[in-house]
Amino acid sequence: MTTRLLEQAAVRRGAAEGPPSLGLVPTMGGLHAGHASLAWTARAANDVVVASIFVNPLQFGDAADLDRYPRTLDDDVRLLGGCGVDVVFAPSVEDMYPGGEPLVRVGAGRMGTVFEGASRPGHFDGMLTVVSKLLNLGLPATTADYRAYFGEKDAQQLALVRRMVLDLNMPVRIEGVPIVRDADGLALSSRNRFLGPEERRAALVLSRVLGALRDRAARGEPLDLAGARAQVAAEDLVDLDYLDVVDPVSFTPRREDRTGEALAVVAARVGAVRLIDNIVLPVVA
Ligand code: PAF
Repeated sequence: MTTRLLEQAAVRRGAAEGPPSLGLVPTMGGLHAGHASLAWTARAANDVVVASIFVNPLQFGDAADLDRYPRTLDDDVRLLGGCGVDVVFAPSVEDMYPGGEPLVRVGAGRMGTVFEGASRPGHFDGMLTVVSKLLNLGLPATTADYRAYFGEKDAQQLALVRRMVLDLNMPVRIEGVPIVRDADGLALSSRNRFLGPEERRAALVLSRVLGALRDRAARGEPLDLAGARAQVAAEDLVDLDYLDVVDPVSFTPRREDRTGEALAVVAARVGAVRLIDNIVLPVVA
């Protein structure tokens, strides 16, 4: 189907405009305005847009977390249609893993064992394995520019996907799409729907401390990560996992000695809900 759409797009464009383009938007469903932003970004830049919806068991360490993940297929298909997505690919577990648990997987290496990887062992191997399969399945059969879209909220995931594409010579361009926030600053997440009103209020400390770190970096002041961590820890309903400053490509800590690009990253459990967020820190001259 994608091949036919690309062939039609090629005819519309004519040879002078170069090959048509295909944008892939991998998701696990439970879609919200952040995913809509991925789909709209892909729509604006490509002739044909495919979105996938697949809750990948391989990237959940905890069976309860996998069961709890929101499954809202009808709403998701409606949202994607409203964003102009041409094809929604929603395979079953058997479709994606016809041989059962895959024997051969993509390993995330050292970067898969820190921060999110330390709290969720095996998560990034499972994520990269399914993303490599989705990228292969989406690979255009006809000549076309091929791009795939990932949210910047999952910054470590995005860095690892970029690294996999580089290391394994995958013929696809990876595009990061900025975080979408609610008006009060909370980064959109499929898991936000599980927050009670008090938890939701408490969760705002995450975007607040990130914003304060960005402001201190912009003024050239010391970041005072210890102070920022203490501010998160002071929220009763919030259990801080990590708050740190890292190189956005390698995810090695950069902390106070920053001269280049840096990302402040945070993860915490708010009630039973694990949330992550991040913010780019301005470069110190
Ligand atoms: O970010 C997600 O929703 C998932 O990790 C992804 C990239 C669709 C792979 O399952």
